[in-house]
Amino acid sequence: MIPRAPKGTDDILPPESERWRRLLREFDDIAERFGYGLVITPVFEATELFGRGVGEETEVVEKQMYTFEDRGGRSVTLRPEATASVIRAYLQSGTRGVFKGAYAGPMFRYEQPQAGRRRQFHQVGVEYIGEASPDADVEVIEVGYRLLEVLGIGDAEVLLNSLGDPEDRVEYRRLLAAYLDERSGDLSPDARRRMAGNPLRVLDSKVDSAVVADAPVPGEHLSPAAQEHISAVRSGLDAIGIPHREAPRLVRGLDYYNRTVFEYESASYGAAQSALGGGGRYDPLAAMLGGPEVPAVGLAMGVDRIVLAMPVSEVSAVLDVFVVTADPARRATALALVRRLRGDGVSADLDLGHKSLKSQFRTADRRRAAAVVVVGEEWDAGRVTVKDLKSGAESSVAAQEVASWIRGH
Ligand code: HAM
Repeated sequence: MIPRAPKGTDDILPPESERWRRLLREFDDIAERFGYGLVITPVFEATELFGRGVGEETEVVEKQMYTFEDRGGRSVTLRPEATASVIRAYLQSGTRGVFKGAYAGPMFRYEQPQAGRRRQFHQVGVEYIGEASPDADVEVIEVGYRLLEVLGIGDAEVLLNSLGDPEDRVEYRRLLAAYLDERSGDLSPDARRRMAGNPLRVLDSKVDSAVVADAPVPGEHLSPAAQEHISAVRSGLDAIGIPHREAPRLVRGLDYYNRTVFEYESASYGAAQSALGGGGRYDPLAAMLGGPEVPAVGLAMGVDRIVLAMPVSEVSAVLDVFVVTADPARRATALALVRRLRGDGVSADLDLGHKSLKSQFRTADRRRAAAVVVVGEEWDAGRVTVKDLKSGAESSVAAQEVASWIRGH
């Protein structure tokens, strides 16, 4: 039997992968324009990083990590997310002050797989490190929103909440713990166990949603400074026309957050796992890893989910042009034309075997070419026939002008 890809993982192949390529290109472009440099960190890290960074009591660390011992006896973990790694890299490199980094790559969480919830999934994200201003929160939220917008997901909305500062949390935790204590008879064993360690994590529990629905919310217990911060974020988003909505129960599943937390939702993506991305401010993380106090805010977008939400019209043809010829004597000419088109920035290909014209046309279809260029007798008069594969329309075009003709269509 031919081995299959592991459960919860996918092979991303053409033409589907064209959506991925489009998304990655747009992200790259936005990240560059907003001033985020490329960051590449290891796909596996010392397990300790996630226990300390993401939080021992979180669902991600408790149940979802791919952790193993390497041949040297070290415990390593396939990264379930990248924020802890980026902050580690920032601290390890001795960088000081503002640092803006963007990343893209696979993450790993042992989850119950379904559409949009995979064991190997992909994120693109940015981290704005070293800046405490609410304007940094607004910028980061804008990056994710602009990405969705340019990909045709124009109905995205930002769900916004504030978790307050660690000091606000002390009072909130007390109130929450008292409430959960009162309702402990209705809680799952998992939630009862989490109550002792970090009651906030009970709010992530899907099986305890009835109890969670009536729980006190963090937004009611904010210090004036935290309140001012979230209001500034709200008015910053209003000023640039990014739709947002209060989500008082949004707490996010990772321990490093304070103040602003947010997620993106869209009606174009109606599945049960509805967040297309999320993030927040995580000022405590650097110190959680043993570093100095460094304010930071960031986001990660779920590539697998965004691709599912992209309108079909956003999937472009894989190839601009497939060049065919019926005459084996013209193969070298066809190949030279393909080379020239590629040089002119047009994606072009041809069949390198000795197939019939009909079979070359079939390949053009299968390869999702937008047009076929036929190199035939009219080549001797400096012309080719271009057939638009969508409309079926044929045009005679000067061989020298194929690239500009294609671009104009
Ligand atoms: P997160 O909310 O855990 O945040 O993940 C961000 C996004 O990744 C989610 O909104 C979702 O779209 C996608 N995602 C998460 N798990 C899966 C999965 N199993 N399958 C498919 N997609 C998934 C973080 O990871 C934080 N590091 C974000 C951040 C950056 N916060 C600050 N900076």
